[in-house]
Amino acid sequence: MKTEFAPSLLASDFSQLKDQIQLVKDADYLHLDVMDGVYVPNITFGPGIISSIRKHSQLPFDTHLMITKPERYIKNFADAGSDILTVHLEATDHIHRVIQLIKDQGIKAGVSLNPATPLDSLEYILPELDQVLIMTVNPGFGGQSYIPQMTEKIAKLNKIIETNNYDCKIEVDGGIKTYNLKEIIEAGADIIVAGSAIFGAADPIESLTEMRSIAADV
Ligand code: DX5
Ligand code: ZN
Repeated sequence: MKTEFAPSLLASDFSQLKDQIQLVKDADYLHLDVMDGVYVPNITFGPGIISSIRKHSQLPFDTHLMITKPERYIKNFADAGSDILTVHLEATDHIHRVIQLIKDQGIKAGVSLNPATPLDSLEYILPELDQVLIMTVNPGFGGQSYIPQMTEKIAKLNKIIETNNYDCKIEVDGGIKTYNLKEIIEAGADIIVAGSAIFGAADPIESLTEMRSIAADV
């Protein structure tokens, strides 16, 4: 499968959102990190900002909800223009119900696991998921270092998905740079989220092109 890229707007210059979004128009998705200051120790943006940037991008919006009890806001984020909504397994008591709520909106559903959360907890929901987002840093901030033991977690999940023939992509998020991209793709990542590696680079367009060429050689 061709590796897809989802630049994370978190690392962009928020005072120039429209222009920053233009820089990554050749990516596969735009990754939108929503943080509530409760589930994670940081606050970013909500549905208002997402709906106002919606008209400036043709890319599918890949919204990563790092908020507690995400069931309260599924409709708001779908209405704002999200094409995929990913919620944290750890942030709700009723993950299966939240997945249904997302699907009822006619959009794709993803579940994210923090680094310490085992894969076992996915067993009974995997058949219903469009994607699993493996956090390779603790959620809350861009620019952190990739946790090395996550490569094995990606590979294990890839094996489970292949063995059962599930139609579910693996998205990987946190600390991905040109130097570790190859091992992450080899382990089974389908979608790469990159924040500081793209928006933090002197030339984000060139950085995305470089990442794509590394992926093409795997
Ligand atoms: C962290 C976010 C990530 C973040 C990644 O909680 O979920 O999407 O933007 O940033 P980098 O690529 O800089 O680690
Ligand atoms: Zn994210």
